[in-house]
Amino acid sequence: MSVQEKIEELKKRRAKAEEGGGEARIKAQHEKGKLTARERINILLDKGSFVELDPFVEHRCYDFGMEKQKYPGEGVVTGYGTIDGRLVYVYAQDFTVLGGSLGEYHAKKITKVMDMAMKMGAPLIGLNDSGGARIQEGVDALSGYGQIFYRNTLASGVIPQISVIMGPSAGGAVYSPALTDFIFMVDKTSQMFITGPQVIKAVTGEEVTPEELGGSITHNRVSGVAHFRGPNDEEVLKMVRKLLSYLPSNNLEDPPRYETGDDPNRTSERLMEIVPDNPNKPYDMKELIREIVDRGEIFESQEMYAENIITAFARLNGRTIGIVANQPRVLAGVLDINASDKAARFIRFCDAFNIPILSIVDVPGFLPGTNQEYGGIIRHGAKMLYAYSEATVPKVTLIVRKAYGGAYLAMCSKDLGADIVFAWPTAEIAVMGPEGAANIVFKNEINEAENPAEVREQKIKEYRENFANPYRAAARGYVDDVIIPSETRPRLISAFEMLRSKRETRPAKKHGNIPL
Ligand code: HXC
Repeated sequence: MSVQEKIEELKKRRAKAEEGGGEARIKAQHEKGKLTARERINILLDKGSFVELDPFVEHRCYDFGMEKQKYPGEGVVTGYGTIDGRLVYVYAQDFTVLGGSLGEYHAKKITKVMDMAMKMGAPLIGLNDSGGARIQEGVDALSGYGQIFYRNTLASGVIPQISVIMGPSAGGAVYSPALTDFIFMVDKTSQMFITGPQVIKAVTGEEVTPEELGGSITHNRVSGVAHFRGPNDEEVLKMVRKLLSYLPSNNLEDPPRYETGDDPNRTSERLMEIVPDNPNKPYDMKELIREIVDRGEIFESQEMYAENIITAFARLNGRTIGIVANQPRVLAGVLDINASDKAARFIRFCDAFNIPILSIVDVPGFLPGTNQEYGGIIRHGAKMLYAYSEATVPKVTLIVRKAYGGAYLAMCSKDLGADIVFAWPTAEIAVMGPEGAANIVFKNEINEAENPAEVREQKIKEYRENFANPYRAAARGYVDDVIIPSETRPRLISAFEMLRSKRETRPAKKHGNIPL
């Protein structure tokens, strides 16, 4: 064979690899509203930046006639490229090849890019579209998953790991995404479950559709397994690009700075109009956040889950911050089990990746009741205390209205290591709300009075005037300053700028024991 002929053969082999499972299956994929693995990669990465690895890898299975079913590339496209000019590693399962099922060598291709991502300190993005463990390969396929889980765990806190669910994700296959930092799902075409509807029907008799069981709404709203969702492949992949713009490439870097063009000294009179005078009236905390951050842009994680707390990325003076804020519009902004889990995980992500945390507080307390107690609110609420105390990134807390009791502490009070705590003059920082406090402290006086209702009202008013303000806390230094609401943005920016050189160490240990 001449060199020219050898080059022709290479081209032929490459073309065969690029064709995946063939035209008919690609057509079927498109008819389901799904793009192919390669089309997805091209949307995800900067134009022309993708470099493929291992296009000629094949399986070595000879059971069930598999020797006749060989597809170069093994049902997964892997490699690297750039997003906004920054290096990322990617794998995209190809559903057109054996249903994207994961066999020994499919897994080896994935673990190769995982190892490279770790060595090079670059994010790993997995585009999942697979029937799960390749049945014909048995325990070798299971081992492949095990090797991925192991690496997901080693990479946790070292490089950002992002999973995009773009088709089925069934059985143990859901656990690699679950071990990563963020899960994106595509509406209608993606589903995640441990056991599918048929098995559920056989075992428990329960009837449920795949979409109800594990669709994007289920996991974004009900289970909290997923963090983001979008209407189709293209939109979701663009969201992944956006998320990465807020993140550093690894735990040794700071997030990139973007010039947003928003004046750091911009003040806003609107801020005081957003929070009502009546402390029992709800308002939308997101409006308040948008007034403060660069260009009013926030990128929310778990937007539909535990909506009583907001977790979002944003920028102040071009630098990424992670925001944890109570949402008075939902359940009055109380902390409950799901809100605690949501916030704690977000805080730990921010801390692992050098993202300063802004906590905005308007919280009446922890949600009371047997549901919460039986569900372990003590254990779950403790996650927030743990996550904030453990975090060594710059931590700034802004108390805009209520900050009561344990929830005051749990929202990153001074004692949990907040570097700077600001309060608005409208802040009410106390052990509990005036109504509850008056009932307990002045119980006898109220009961013994001729007109108990009037006395009660009087006592509530007294308590509110004396205690429900920021000055008691400011007098002890728990609040560093009481600020004029309209000046919040410049004050926060100046605080975070001051904290940029923050270095805080913790005692050496293998790892802590967060209440799980
Ligand atoms: C081998 C598989 C496969 C698998 C699908 N295929 N799943 N081949 N192993 N796990 C093949 C099909 O035989 C078919 O091949 C092609 O992929 C497309 O599949 P279809 O069924 O035609 O597609 P669709 O109707 O869209 O259904 C997709 C599906 C279904 C919902 C994913 O295929 C399915 O239920 N598959 C099995 C899912 C499953 O139970 N997996 C094991 C989970 S347990 P042809 O040649 O006909 O086109 C697991 C353990 C992991 O993953 C443990 C980790 C610890």
